[in-house]
Amino acid sequence: MKCLEEVPGVGPKTAKLLSSKGIMSPRHLALFNPEELIELVELTPDRAERITRAARRLVRTRICTTAKDYAEKMKDHPRLTTGVKAIDELLEGGIEPRVIYELAGEFGSGKTQICHQLSVTVQLSRNRGGVGGACLYIDTEEAFSPNRVSAICLRFNLDPSHALENINVIKVINVADLEDSIKLDAIKLIEEKNVRLILVDSIISLYRAEFKGREMLAARQQRLNYVLDWLLRIAKIYGVYVVVTNQVLEVPLSYGETKRPAGGMIMAHACTHRLLLKRSKDSTRIMEVLDSPRLPYKASAVFKITERGVEDV
Ligand code: GTP
Ligand code: MG
Repeated sequence: MKCLEEVPGVGPKTAKLLSSKGIMSPRHLALFNPEELIELVELTPDRAERITRAARRLVRTRICTTAKDYAEKMKDHPRLTTGVKAIDELLEGGIEPRVIYELAGEFGSGKTQICHQLSVTVQLSRNRGGVGGACLYIDTEEAFSPNRVSAICLRFNLDPSHALENINVIKVINVADLEDSIKLDAIKLIEEKNVRLILVDSIISLYRAEFKGREMLAARQQRLNYVLDWLLRIAKIYGVYVVVTNQVLEVPLSYGETKRPAGGMIMAHACTHRLLLKRSKDSTRIMEVLDSPRLPYKASAVFKITERGVEDV
């Protein structure tokens, strides 16, 4: 891991200042736009511009390659199993890193249960479909349950107490808290605790609570975009897996559907793969592709929720 002083233009004094504000490394510094850095650290705009650019150059954030080499490189980015064959098949092998997945659905559709299961499967070894990594669970709805994780661990033959140690839970109370947890805490956990998966359950609830009414809509969307953009930057620069959950709105749509994910165009543009979860009968649920550049529109998988987690039917 490179240290901050390796960034051209960052001397011992600036390095100390940056790390006192929670900036961990040149890679972390490279995530910041100059304006964002100035908000956090007292620097002139010119200096902020120079050191963020130098950091990006040092850690080579920009990928410039042929499609052939890119395809080769992507082989080093394994898919992460969901622990459900039908869903893995729907997702063409599991969750891919470097992008954002959205799980949208009404209450009880299985969003939180899938997040719990992923917090376990990420810990599995490569030959079992995991990546041998830790997880960050950002819980905005008080939904995280260690008991559920323990039950899921038994199914995958993992020691629950060891697995729970690898799940870092952050509880946030408002949007600013969520922003800090992503800009600062998440990076610390990625760099120091081998976090490979970031879950945000849910991405939308705090915004809906904090920005009320039509007149706040533009401000809400701007702030939501800000956090999604940070998640995307982190996903790309650190090659991590990102899954966010989203609520749905009840609206009469012309094509027969009545539920649409919240968050409007901002969510639609930021999330690479949008998956809609629907309740079927009893414990059965359906996951349907809502929008994706690679997965077929409306393709679906059936799964069920049991005391052992999320399973094939
Ligand atoms: P909201 O957060 O309310 O929007 O819903 P969600 O989509 O996150 O729902 P969640 O993933 O929490 O799924 C809840 C469903 O899982 C409920 O129907 C529960 O009955 C079911 N569930 C949770 N735990 C168990 C369990 O131990 N056994 C069984 N059989 N079902 C469970
Ligand atoms: Mg939930």
